[in-house]
Amino acid sequence: MNVPTQAAGVPVGIDDISFATGSYRVDLADIAPRLGAEPAKYHKGLGQEQMSVVAPDEDPVTMAAAAAAPLIERGGAEGIRTLLFATETGIDQSKSAGVYVHALLGLPDTVRTVELKQACYSATAALQFAAALVARNPAERVLVIASDIARYDLDSAAEPTQGAGAVAFTVAANPRILRLDAANGVHTSDVMDFWRPNYRTQALVEGKLSIGAYIDAVAGAFADYRERGGAAFDEIDWFCYHQPFTKMASKAHLMLSERFGLDMDKARAEEIIAPTTGYNRRIGNSYTASTYFGLLSLLDTRPDLAGARVAIISYGSGCVAEFLTGRIVEGYEEMLHAEEHERILAERIRLGDADYYAMQTRVIEDQGNHSNIGEGLRRGTGPFSFTGVEGDKRRYVRRAD
Ligand code: HMG
Repeated sequence: MNVPTQAAGVPVGIDDISFATGSYRVDLADIAPRLGAEPAKYHKGLGQEQMSVVAPDEDPVTMAAAAAAPLIERGGAEGIRTLLFATETGIDQSKSAGVYVHALLGLPDTVRTVELKQACYSATAALQFAAALVARNPAERVLVIASDIARYDLDSAAEPTQGAGAVAFTVAANPRILRLDAANGVHTSDVMDFWRPNYRTQALVEGKLSIGAYIDAVAGAFADYRERGGAAFDEIDWFCYHQPFTKMASKAHLMLSERFGLDMDKARAEEIIAPTTGYNRRIGNSYTASTYFGLLSLLDTRPDLAGARVAIISYGSGCVAEFLTGRIVEGYEEMLHAEEHERILAERIRLGDADYYAMQTRVIEDQGNHSNIGEGLRRGTGPFSFTGVEGDKRRYVRRAD
């Protein structure tokens, strides 16, 4: 019997990409008075305008399914043998959230499905695992979904850095959007900068420590990337950083440039990073999905990217970082859906501070019991809905069902 062996030298990378977010949004100017801040602190100091908020019947599964559905509609399920679900908003200690998504999307049963976790980093681990599977068998495609809800204590300094969103992408041979370079750099160190114990719905964070940990870890990952033959900092055209708030990306870019002896100032760093921040400014922190919202912002807003080298710079508290690069593929424009993405963001329903505060208070008091899925409560507007827990089992429907 002929057993297929590993294929060498096939280009692998991101073939199609799509996003979803919560049905609601909060304008940070509306919460600033309660938090005793000037709106400028959020708009300029953090680089955030809005944050997405999920409805009581939305969760990481409904956002993930909504993000991935267009990929299946456009490209079918043929060749997809793996679904990797990256999240730190776990809904079950045992069952992968990806299995619910698999069912909602009607994927074939010949798909392996698994959930990955390491704070905001795991989508990048998923990208690498997916690339390895495809390199072994270029006939296969892998569906990667990153989906998260960022939630901190109300009235805390971290509250304006919340958000919610999902990015789904397929990884394939001869990709039509981003062809990955072979070099990558990684870094792990044990830091308690941000964590969420199993008994909490809101994360705990040492804000200032987390900013230093992010910079150090990314610098470590970049040094490793260089040692493995990666491009020099000034040979990279675009930098898609993890964006817990968008200012973090330009802050990191300035500090890294200085560390590597490059001529850079704050204004120039902000200018370089700006095309990657458009979606994150409006969505907020989407944890695992955030770096890929950065990539999508760049693709959707900056023309003539074919041939450009783009860095994907991933950081997950705790902490793990990765620095990898790829080249934008000729003809990538055919794969863009900027108008649809704008529609999704524009159609979110604005919540005032009082309504948002009441909704978040219920979620926090409920601590994962979902007693808030009840009559008369606000419903999400996305294609999938979480209908509650019956006999300790989560239930989901496609809204049209
Ligand atoms: P804070 O103490 O409220 O803010 O917390 P601040 O006082 O440091 O001010 C923030 C910026 O606003 C400063 O700018 C101020 O000068 C400026 P900077 O000096 O840093 O350039 N500012 C103003 N600008 C204009 N007009 C004004 C004004 N007032 C002040 N009127 C902090 C900020 C980010 C610490 C907090 O929101 C927080 O703890 N957030 C959560 C943690 C976080 O996002 N950390 C980022 C790195 S860790 C990470 O990325 C991982 C993560 O995504 C989780 C995961 O991996 O899963 C979080």
